[in-house]
Parts: sequence; C-alpha cells; structure tokens
Amino acid sequence: MIGLQRGHVQGARISALGVYVPERVVTNDDLALTVETSDEWISTRTGIRERRVCAPEQATSDLAVAAADDLLTRNGFRAQDIDLVISTSLIPDMIFPATASIVAERIGAVNAGAFDVQSGCTGFVYGLAVAAAFVAAGIYHNVLVTGAEALSKGLDWEDRGTCVLFGDGAGAVMVGPSDNGGIFSFDLGNDGAGAQFLNMPAGGSRLPASHETVDRRQHFIKMNGSEVFRFATRKVVESCEKALNDAGLTAADVDLFVPHQANIRIIESVARRLGFSDEQVFANLDRYGNTSCASIPLCLHEAMACGRLKKGDRLLMVGFGAGLTWGSCLTKWDL
Ligand code: ACO
Repeated sequence: MIGLQRGHVQGARISALGVYVPERVVTNDDLALTVETSDEWISTRTGIRERRVCAPEQATSDLAVAAADDLLTRNGFRAQDIDLVISTSLIPDMIFPATASIVAERIGAVNAGAFDVQSGCTGFVYGLAVAAAFVAAGIYHNVLVTGAEALSKGLDWEDRGTCVLFGDGAGAVMVGPSDNGGIFSFDLGNDGAGAQFLNMPAGGSRLPASHETVDRRQHFIKMNGSEVFRFATRKVVESCEKALNDAGLTAADVDLFVPHQANIRIIESVARRLGFSDEQVFANLDRYGNTSCASIPLCLHEAMACGRLKKGDRLLMVGFGAGLTWGSCLTKWDL
C-alpha cells in the first residue's frame, strides 16, 4: 500500500456475486389504492413502476442470507473459507447484534469475523472499501459484503412522500486478491450536517422507544426529498469526477456507470453532467425502486446477465444516502 495515492487500492477484486429479490411485486397502481398518489406521478417524478416487498416474516438478514447462498452456489465457494462478513443496510435486523453476525452463522461462515457498516444507502460502497482494504493489506483472502434491505419494514405506508420510493432486495459480493487490476480507487465522503434530512428519529439513544414515539410515527424513515435531491445531484457528480481525475481517466474510458438507484431524474442529471451516453449508464429502478444498499449489486447482476458488464470492463459505481454520505468506486470488472 505504501506509495499509493489517497483512496487508491492495489490487489483486490470482486471475485463473486449473488442476489435475491422477494417474490411479491407491488405496482404503483397498488399503492394508489392506499395513499393519495398515481402511477403517473410516481413514474414521471421517480422512474419507478414497481418494487419488491418481502414477506412479513422476512428480515434484512433473511434477504442477505439468500443473496449470500446464491453467491456461494453460483460460484462454488465454501462458506468455511470466508474470513470476514460485512453486512451493509439502512434497516438492520436489530440495533444490535450486528446483522453480519446472524448472516455469518446462517450461511455457515464458521471461520469468519463479522460486523456491520452503517453509512446509509452508501453502505455497499463503504463496505466494499473496507473489504478491499482488508484484502489489499493481505490480512484476509475472502471477504463477503452483503447489501440487503427489508426497507418495507421501516416505511410509513401512510406517507406518500417516502413509501412510493423504496423496495426490498439483496446482493452479495466476495472480495478477494487480484494480481491484474481489479478495484483501483475509492472516494468516500460525509456531511453530517445533513443528518436531519434523512433518518429514523426514534429507537436509538437520542429518542428511545416509547408510546409517544410510536404515536408520533417516529420509528419510520423520514426524508426531506428536495434537500436529498439537491445534495445527490451535486455530490455524486463531484465524487465521480474526483474518482476519474485521480485515476487519470475520463467518462469516455468507462464502459459502465452504475449509480445508486434512487430516482431516474438524479441518474439522468448526473450522467449528463458527467458526459456519459445512455449506453454507458445502467438503471433498473423501474422494477425495483430504491433498494438502498442492495441497489448497486442488483444492477451489477442484471448488467452481467444481459451482457452489458463483461470481464475487463471499466466500471464506475457511486452511492449516496443518509449521513449524508457518498462514495464512488472504480474497478476493472473481473468476473
Ligand atoms: N404522489 C403524489 N403527489 C406527491 C407524492 C406522491 N407519492 N409525494 C409527494 N407529492 C406531492 C407533494 O406533496 C407536493 O405537493 P404540493 O406541491 O401540493 O406540496 C408535490 O407532490 C411536489 O413534491 P416535491 O417534493 O416537490 O416533488 P419532487 O419532484 O421533488 O419529487 C421526490 C419528490 C421524488 C421525493 C424527489 O424529491 C426525490 O427523489 N428526492 C431524492 C430522494 C432520494 O434520493 N432519496 C434516497 C436517498 S438515499 C437512500 O437511498 C435512502
């Protein structure tokens, strides 16, 4: 690592990928039956047409385990070879223990350490950075990062400003050693002054659970949509420009741009300002909504499946979310 630029990594790659989405599909028309909204409003303002919603008995760890099992089966990995499990999510199973502890036990990762990374919807990119650092430093060989969300459990289904935006799903990646490129840089950022714009106010030490907090509906996701929109369009562009400049690359050098799937207007604005053509940008939020930490791995899986992400491609991923946080990662795809 000595001699590398800030944010640069050498010797780590994404070596396997798995996904899971719940079966139940909820369309915009379904939502219009319970809150004052319409398919027209949701699809034109966000690009979302439908989303997946997990079963009442499913928690975040159940979705993460399903994605991790998919990864292990699809790629022939043995759970006992995993050195570390990092779980990323906006809404974990519980405040403690870490969801990663539950996931590691359930998949049989008996030789792994486990912890959670909480950095809002940027969690997947942060988790990937931590995993890459462990691998690049030679400490571990196989680090599992899950991005899983049972967001439907944290939504106020009476708040049309949030309930139409989110969906449930999960992805998992393995990060392992590489001697021919792989992950080459991260740009991670934070502005805690924006914590007020996206949060779940009650249930922690600031506002412990009480009858009043429940009556005030403070155990649900609260968001100032226009502030988050402004932040996202500004910071995502800055972060991607920094990642590209640091690597001596331009938008033209990138084969695929995979942004966090929050709103198609954010994606289009960012892509335009960065100079990406439509062919370079991947989006699937029309079918899944905003799945927070799961959105990037779900895109990677679909992009591979339809041939838009191939071995050797240069990939730029960027996340943003509660914190407020943001993070981008440049990698040469090696799967
Ligand atoms: N259906 C119908 N009308 C609605 C709905 C709805 N679902 N939601 C809001 N409205 C109304 C508002 O009440 C408002 O009405 P008013 O003018 O009478 O007050 C009107 O629509 C316009 O509301 P705006 O908030 O100005 O709508 P905007 O075009 O900004 O879109 C949205 C709102 C979609 C939330 C947008 O601001 C956004 O996407 N923000 C970013 C959100 C985001 O990225 N979140 C994720 C960040 S990180 C993470 O993933 C957790």
